[in-house]
Amino acid sequence: MLYIHILSLPCVLRCSRAAASWTQEDGAPNLRAILTNTSIKWSSNTKISFPGDGDFINATTRWTVFRPPTYQAAVSPATEPDVSTAIRVASENSIPFLGTGGRHGYGTTLGNLQGGLALDLSKLNSVSVDKDAGTLTVGPGVHFGDVLDPVFNAGYMLPTGSCSCVGILGATVGAGIGRLSGLYGLLLDQLISARVVTAVGQMVTVSNDTNPDLFWGIRGAGANLGLLTSATFQLSPLVNNGDFSSYDMIFPAAKNGSYFDVLASFNDGSSAFPAKLSAASAISYNSTTGEILANWAYVGSQDEADLIIKPVLDLDPSYIDRRVISWPRFTAEAQFGLDAALCEVNKTNDIYGINTKNLDTATFTSIFKQVGDYYAQWPDGQGTTITLEAFPNQASLAVPEDATAYPWRDAQYNILLQFTWEASGNTVEEPSTRLAQSIREQIASSSGYGGLTVYVNYAHGDEQIEEIYGRDKLSRLVELKRAWDSNNAFSFNNPLPT
Ligand SMILES: Cc1cc2nc3c(=O)[nH]c(=O)nc-3n(C[C@H](O)[C@H](O)[C@H](O)COP(=O)(O)OP(=O)(O)OC[C@H]3O[C@@H](n4cnc5c(N)ncnc54)[C@H](O)[C@@H]3O)c2cc1C
Ligand SMILES: *[C@@H]1O[C@H](CO)[C@@H](O)[C@H](O)[C@H]1NC(C)=O
Ligand SMILES: *[C@@H]1O[C@H](CO)[C@@H](O)[C@H](O)[C@H]1NC(C)=O
Ligand SMILES: *[C@@H]1O[C@H](CO)[C@@H](O)[C@H](O)[C@H]1NC(C)=O
Ligand SMILES: *[C@@H]1O[C@H](CO)[C@@H](O)[C@H](O)[C@H]1NC(C)=O
Ligand SMILES: *[C@@H]1O[C@H](CO)[C@@H](O)[C@H](O)[C@H]1NC(C)=O
Ligand SMILES: *[C@@H]1O[C@H](CO)[C@@H](O)[C@H](O)[C@H]1NC(C)=O
Repeated sequence: MLYIHILSLPCVLRCSRAAASWTQEDGAPNLRAILTNTSIKWSSNTKISFPGDGDFINATTRWTVFRPPTYQAAVSPATEPDVSTAIRVASENSIPFLGTGGRHGYGTTLGNLQGGLALDLSKLNSVSVDKDAGTLTVGPGVHFGDVLDPVFNAGYMLPTGSCSCVGILGATVGAGIGRLSGLYGLLLDQLISARVVTAVGQMVTVSNDTNPDLFWGIRGAGANLGLLTSATFQLSPLVNNGDFSSYDMIFPAAKNGSYFDVLASFNDGSSAFPAKLSAASAISYNSTTGEILANWAYVGSQDEADLIIKPVLDLDPSYIDRRVISWPRFTAEAQFGLDAALCEVNKTNDIYGINTKNLDTATFTSIFKQVGDYYAQWPDGQGTTITLEAFPNQASLAVPEDATAYPWRDAQYNILLQFTWEASGNTVEEPSTRLAQSIREQIASSSGYGGLTVYVNYAHGDEQIEEIYGRDKLSRLVELKRAWDSNNAFSFNNPLPT
């Protein structure tokens, strides 16, 4: 807190203090003095910013303001060597830091960083497609929305995620789950190689052949092991010319039980759906009660799709928008065009995630009622949604379990509890936390895993470490953490023990 007061003093005072000392009154490092030390040779486009600067706002504004990290300074490196320099300077001066890409991370462990350094990777935003090789190379400042047109225009697809604004590498280092995982696998399965800056500022390549151990680890626990400054993905040929048959549908409250039954009936025991079909279903508030907003999508013709999803259409949704959407437009236009609203920054979003191997319809019908009661009692919580992602996983399951650190290839559904309200300190926070934890418990106990398991990028931050990284892979991950980050510099995202 003290630093913030010092930094908000008029410049004259601030600057003389900086010139006088590299530490502050309480012995904590003086970031302004350290980062602007002229012996550091930053490249000309690298920006150093401090609270109050416009650049600082741009370098630190994030998707959720729920339990956020706070910073005394930001470095926005324009080059990979400057990422390395920033990490070395931080490490030499014991300054805790967080690297950020799309700033859509929401796990509450990120908020354990207070008064630290923001290492904003947004300037490393190049996108390049090698059409002949069928590969995409991107920097860490690139979002899903930035790659869709370049990839599609070159005649390819990539299993990106559901929102345009998420950082592609931030998603990849956890897994990158999406609607195309039945056809192509996880986003991390497409990785051919990456450049990583390590905890000691070393710049290394990782691939099957070079640093294969680190390559294994960054595919599932990447935020713990280094910062990716560039990554190359294998692209895949178009299926059905890249066209999705898309159905936005609304099911009123009375149909919730039959909707869950129909959704569950598509499961063949190992996948929620056949490889070309996917659905996202959200329990949401409307007027007086809950309803279900769903998007079903099929990578194939509308005639085929109509037949396959007939049981859903037979439920006679109260609203339906049936149309063909090309892959690069799908993110923005499908799901009621909610992408733009979902991407809004500076909102209070308190999120919990759960994996399941099956869809326990009795549990979901009960949850539908509990959420309806919550909407009625807590009007300030009516923006809250419970999303059930049912994405196929045939191609993901085809990758050997021990090929990457990601532990949940057998998950058939990913559930997201997105509690949201206006402004902090709202009285709805306490009942929201209570309901979220209770719902998570109910879903976990009927999940088929015998308890809670969660995809690292969907974790709330209060889970046991095994529930995030899996019991089987933990010892190998801990060894990697000791080898590559023994001082725990990358310690703010569901940290692995050292
Ligand atoms: C609206 C929304 C939609 C989402 N949709 C999907 C989806 O469809 N599929 C899916 O899999 N996930 C999805 N997610 C979850 C998403 O994968 C995580 O929130 C992810 O951490 C976001 O990465 P970021 O770069 O945007 O976030 P940041 O907050 O910038 O980073 C999050 C974490 O990742 C680390 N990180 C970021 N970049 C790098 C890098 N280059 N190298 C190493 N570590 C890095 C950071 O240090 C931090 O610990 C969604 C999230 C939101 C908010
Ligand atoms: C500035 O950086 C130089 C080179 O690293 C270092 O020797 C010097 O101590 C730094 N200045 C201070 C006072 O920290
Ligand atoms: C911050 O970002 C916005 C939106 O991209 C841009 O218009 C603005 O110029 C940026 N401000 C600074 C100080 O760079
Ligand atoms: C890396 O190795 C895996 C497993 O052996 C293999 O399936 C994959 O194709 C290889 N990737 C590249 C780019 O060679
Ligand atoms: C939800 O579905 C169940 C089972 O069909 C039904 O009993 C219940 O009334 C529905 N909920 C609401 C609020 O209509
Ligand atoms: C809300 O419910 C009404 C009545 O069922 C329906 O007409 C309307 O489309 C719904 N609106 C939204 C945004 O879900
Ligand atoms: C987000 O919040 C910051 C800090 O309050 C503010 O400066 C910035 O303008 C906000 N950005 C948007 C897009 O609302």
